[in-house]
Amino acid sequence: MPAIVAASLLSADFAALGHDIAAVERGGAGLLHVDVMDGHFVPNLSMGPPVVSAIRRVAHVPLDVHLMLDNPDAFVRPFVDAGASRITVHVEVLPHLHRTLQFIKSCGVKAGVAINPSTPVVALEEVAGDVDQVLVMSVNPGFGGQTFIPRSESKIRAVRALLDAAGNDAPVSVDGGVDHSNAARIAAAGAAILVAGSAIFAGGAPERATRELCELVKGAPR
Ligand code: DX5
Ligand code: ZN
Repeated sequence: MPAIVAASLLSADFAALGHDIAAVERGGAGLLHVDVMDGHFVPNLSMGPPVVSAIRRVAHVPLDVHLMLDNPDAFVRPFVDAGASRITVHVEVLPHLHRTLQFIKSCGVKAGVAINPSTPVVALEEVAGDVDQVLVMSVNPGFGGQTFIPRSESKIRAVRALLDAAGNDAPVSVDGGVDHSNAARIAAAGAAILVAGSAIFAGGAPERATRELCELVKGAPR
């Protein structure tokens, strides 16, 4: 199965979200990626459950909600109620990660774990059999438009190998600096979900940019 492109709405036009969502869906986006930031875990603020509810009303593909929060446990339920299909939390803030993953699953949605660029893959070892998705951050989280950290490519391979060893075919997702120059390579390294924000929206032609990214990952050897 070819990799999926997840359009990160952080780089969309917030005054025309419905328009931009329709464009990326026409272009072939398989997920809408929603970045939730608290100004503590990451140095930026973004959106909350009411915005996710509004997105849910117009979206036709699942919502992949990325919680960049110090206290994600308190917000799982509100984002599930708002319409998230996947919820990803950061390993760096969760002393009881296993409990959190079980809680997310008990809410009826997919449970993902994200790791920052400085977090080693071994941090996932004990939950490798429990996750529905692993999000490899290929930039330091908080902002769109940053440059892909090259080391992330070998990290994708290492996470894929860890999941395979646990007998878990959950997808590896990659977030940050994904663009038309590196998408095929990232997919070939084992990423099944490519999150892209500025590569889709910054050029002003989100439908075409999404379609081109989808074409690039379709041809990538897996
Ligand atoms: C960064 C977010 C990303 C961001 C990616 O903290 O998690 O999802 O929107 O943006 P680009 O694709 O522009 O790097
Ligand atoms: Zn994200």
